[in-house]
Amino acid sequence: MEKQPKGWGAFAEHVKERAPDETLQEAITYVQDREAALDMGAGALNETKHLLASGFQRVVALDAEPSIVERAKGQAGGERLEVIVSRFEDYEFPPNAFDLVNARYSLPFMSPASFEEVFAKIKASLKFGGIFTGQMFGPNDFRNNQEGMTMHSREGVESLLSDMEIIELEEEEYDGPTYSQGTQHWHVYTVVARK
Ligand SMILES: C[S@@+](CC[C@H](N)C(=O)[O-])C[C@H]1O[C@@H](n2cnc3c(N)ncnc32)[C@H](O)[C@@H]1O
Repeated sequence: MEKQPKGWGAFAEHVKERAPDETLQEAITYVQDREAALDMGAGALNETKHLLASGFQRVVALDAEPSIVERAKGQAGGERLEVIVSRFEDYEFPPNAFDLVNARYSLPFMSPASFEEVFAKIKASLKFGGIFTGQMFGPNDFRNNQEGMTMHSREGVESLLSDMEIIELEEEEYDGPTYSQGTQHWHVYTVVARK
């Protein structure tokens, strides 16, 4: 999940057979309506496909990586899928629109200058009772000090979620594999929270 020398398209190709994320599957159980979901940093569309298969009437897959468009072609349930190639920082988040926002390992790749503003827009785009799920990275993560990335202390994550109900906030540190940089130290918070 590190910054990719060959780009995010190559990373997506590498992970395209991965099963849908288990935390997302759990997060969906807390969703009241399945009208609209946003998948931020949709990448290989593994989670986007799961949202479609779970019956969301509209799924927005957002990613700055242009190959997402080709990847989405012929997708089952594609008439319910909207693919948007945009940086999170430039996306016009519709207010009170989504029952669920998924951001699997994608938000930390924004710079600190943008992070809080974008996270506030994510919250504003959730309906009342809507669910956010995704990851932030901690200060001991191997990507700390990489340009353009944002790390959070646990207090920092709790502060981002202070106006939400935290359903799950799991903090993990471990040495584990990366796509292109061998084994590295990971420091990850996994969040499920309700507006
Ligand atoms: C580590 S990958 C995760 C992809 C997918 N969510 C997954 O878990 O396999 C990060 C994804 O976020 C996208 N991304 C990173 N920074 C972004 C930004 N500022 N705006 C939009 N997309 C971004 C990348 O193109 C990439 O697809």
